[in-house]
Amino acid sequence: MKIPFHRTDLGNEEIAAASEAIQSGWLTMGDRTFEFEREFSKYTGASNSIAVNSCTAALHLALRAAGIQAGDEVIIPAMTFIATWEIITYSGAVPVLCDVLKENFLIDPLDIEKKITQKTKAIIPVHYGGESCDMGAIMDIARKYKISVIEDAAHALPTFYKGQMVGTIGDITCFSFYATKTLTTGEGGMITTENHEWAERMKRLRLHGITKDAWNRYSDKGSWEYDVSEAGYKYNITDIASAIGIEQLKKSDKMNIARREIAFKYNAVFGKSGFLDIWKVRDGAGCAWHLYPVKLNLDALKINRNKFIDELKKRGISTSVHYIPMYRFSVFKGSGYTENLFPGCEDIYSREISLPIFPGMTGKETDYVIENVMDILEKNKR
Ligand SMILES: Cc1ncc(COP(=O)(O)O)c(C=O)c1O
Repeated sequence: MKIPFHRTDLGNEEIAAASEAIQSGWLTMGDRTFEFEREFSKYTGASNSIAVNSCTAALHLALRAAGIQAGDEVIIPAMTFIATWEIITYSGAVPVLCDVLKENFLIDPLDIEKKITQKTKAIIPVHYGGESCDMGAIMDIARKYKISVIEDAAHALPTFYKGQMVGTIGDITCFSFYATKTLTTGEGGMITTENHEWAERMKRLRLHGITKDAWNRYSDKGSWEYDVSEAGYKYNITDIASAIGIEQLKKSDKMNIARREIAFKYNAVFGKSGFLDIWKVRDGAGCAWHLYPVKLNLDALKINRNKFIDELKKRGISTSVHYIPMYRFSVFKGSGYTENLFPGCEDIYSREISLPIFPGMTGKETDYVIENVMDILEKNKR
């Protein structure tokens, strides 16, 4: 059997919607995008939703809206996708790396507070794998020091923190619709915020800073005239992607249940195996289950993480590692960030592996993964 790490779950509804968008004669941002934004606001409860062409673009616009400038410091977890870091460097601001908690892989609020200086202007918590960070503690720190919270919710649709949907908690939240994410449009992203002024500015910035989008210029209702208030970017989504997004959103809860069922099936076996430390999602916390990470109990095994990945590959099972802590990349050489400063990240990185989890994964596929994981572990126990 061959089990991919991810298989996209797009059905006839998405195909029909994309095809209608193509046949409509209007491909770029237009009515379908505005409908997608309205539906996203209804789903999350956010007052403003702004669709863009990636979560990276969303995060960049969020920093612009929050007024982050050269020299300002922005706190992020060291264990995240590199996009969370790179968007800070775009403006000459300074990313400050925090450790994560080894039990749940989420940014450590105690370490956040230690890293705050006079120059700190924002925190970007990352809802790793789809579990919400400790937003209560993070919002308290942000209010105390008067700094913005921009949530990287690339993995976190749908996710709750104490009953409140992610997308309505921090000052701005950024979602990803990349091909492997819990909701996909191929490439795409969404920004949510309760700040109407910031929302209007981000809408302009996503399209070159122009005061009217193309739809408003070329449609019957529009006129050719427009103004440019400041330099922006080419970050708008297309109507083809939005048409897919509208259909995906209708299935979001169903896809979440399918992911959760796979996770619980894995947990039931792996949790009591003694060979694996399973990911401990907090009681009552919603989880998007974008990832299913486990940590090898190296004391009980003769095999290391990399060898384990190779063994699974031989049996047709694709896996991944989330993440290589970013201070290990060559771009960080000479930065002063070294492995000993991040015990949480190092514990996870030395023994973490992400197993396949996607809504279309069949019972047989899940069983195949469980059987083979257990077989490899049994054969390699100390
Ligand atoms: C945590 C995190 N943040 C940001 C991104 C960037 O998302 P996008 O590919 O939509 O730009 C990703 C993508 O994988 C991610 O995992």
